[in-house]
Amino acid sequence: MDLFEYQARDMFESHGVPVLAGAVATTPEEARAAAERIGAKSGGVTVVKAQVKTGGRGKAGGVKVTKSPEEARAAAEQILGMDIKGHTVGTVMIAQGARIAEEYYFSLLLDRANRSYLSMCSKEGGMDIEQLAETRPEALARVPVDPNVGIDDAKAREIVDAAGFADEDKDELVRVLKLLWTVYHDEDATLVEVNPLVKTEDGQIVALDAKVSLDANADFRHPDHAALEDKASADPLEAAAKAKDLNYVKLDGSVGIIGNGAGLVMSTLDVVAYAGEDFGGQRPANFLDIGGGASAEVMANGLHIILSDAQVKSVFVNVFGGITACDAVANGIVGALDALGEEESKPLVVRLDGNNVEEGRRILAERAHPNVIIEATMDGAARKAAELAAAATD
Ligand SMILES: Nc1ncnc2c1ncn2[C@@H]1O[C@H](COP(=O)(O)OP(=O)(O)OP(=O)(O)O)[C@@H](O)[C@H]1O
Ligand SMILES: [Mg+2]
Repeated sequence: MDLFEYQARDMFESHGVPVLAGAVATTPEEARAAAERIGAKSGGVTVVKAQVKTGGRGKAGGVKVTKSPEEARAAAEQILGMDIKGHTVGTVMIAQGARIAEEYYFSLLLDRANRSYLSMCSKEGGMDIEQLAETRPEALARVPVDPNVGIDDAKAREIVDAAGFADEDKDELVRVLKLLWTVYHDEDATLVEVNPLVKTEDGQIVALDAKVSLDANADFRHPDHAALEDKASADPLEAAAKAKDLNYVKLDGSVGIIGNGAGLVMSTLDVVAYAGEDFGGQRPANFLDIGGGASAEVMANGLHIILSDAQVKSVFVNVFGGITACDAVANGIVGALDALGEEESKPLVVRLDGNNVEEGRRILAERAHPNVIIEATMDGAARKAAELAAAATD
């Protein structure tokens, strides 16, 4: 999960990383009031910053320095509602203005290829860092960080030496880098990026921007991270699936997919996309893995989510009964259809195989729902589901 800058700023602050005062606003008037309070600490100067989860906000006009609360109000009016790379700005942060002497760059990230962490640091930070990395890669120091050791004193020194900082700045930079390491480590982040990390005119090192990505696999260690989720912009179907603990990803096609086991579901997506080519390019509408030990209830929850997707024209249920016996799956399908009512449902192509398959097919045959079609093979079922989706789209 990526955080908004203001959330990452708060996280920095809670770990002692030096940041400036900041407050969020969703209306120009709120922005004016926040600038009144925050600007008092910096001679009236504040910076109004678009809160969107994408880079390049400054270049898109989403970061504006203002000299009075009235200017901050006007800037917020301009920035709110702005589109930055497909993200609509709904919130701005009003940040205390800094007197910047120099802009630096620092990031720490998970380096999957090398099974390690990687830190990057430069004396020449700011908005053109991507360009710097391309044209003068030597100006961006890259120092591996051993996950078992982290950024201790020695590692922090190695990084600031590699980046070529002046001796007088090194002690304070070492202190800040170690604090940024505690953010990365203690919060289970996969990315902490500060661009710019600045030296102010009075010699302080301050994080003026904050980018943090958290590792969702570690969510169980961080109950407080749930509050950071951006519920407003989450896909409503994905949010509903998450609330039911389902492994669901919304895709763009017309054939709803349910299967058990991630591998089987992924090959189902491929088979449906392939079969769909013969039927006007029908494609999978989602990924949904109901898991190895999925119960009838889980099947019903999954079907419910998929059938409520307006883009879905047909559904392919592809289950290989192992731990989940086919009769449990069949009962889940029947239960879900009964709960939804017949009018609501769409054609459901079912391929069951494996543990207790005879009983599963018997249960479905007995229920004889007009919309349920039983197919014996995965390829046959994929073709049928694509064909039915195409027929419903015409
Ligand atoms: N609090 C502040 N006081 C003074 N100047 C600021 C402040 N915050 C940002 N700036 C200036 O604005 C520039 C852009 O800000 P910031 O880094 O937050 O946005 P960005 O880099 O364009 O966005 P992104 O990091 O999403 O690409 C900074 O490089 C800095 O010069
Ligand atoms: Mg930045």
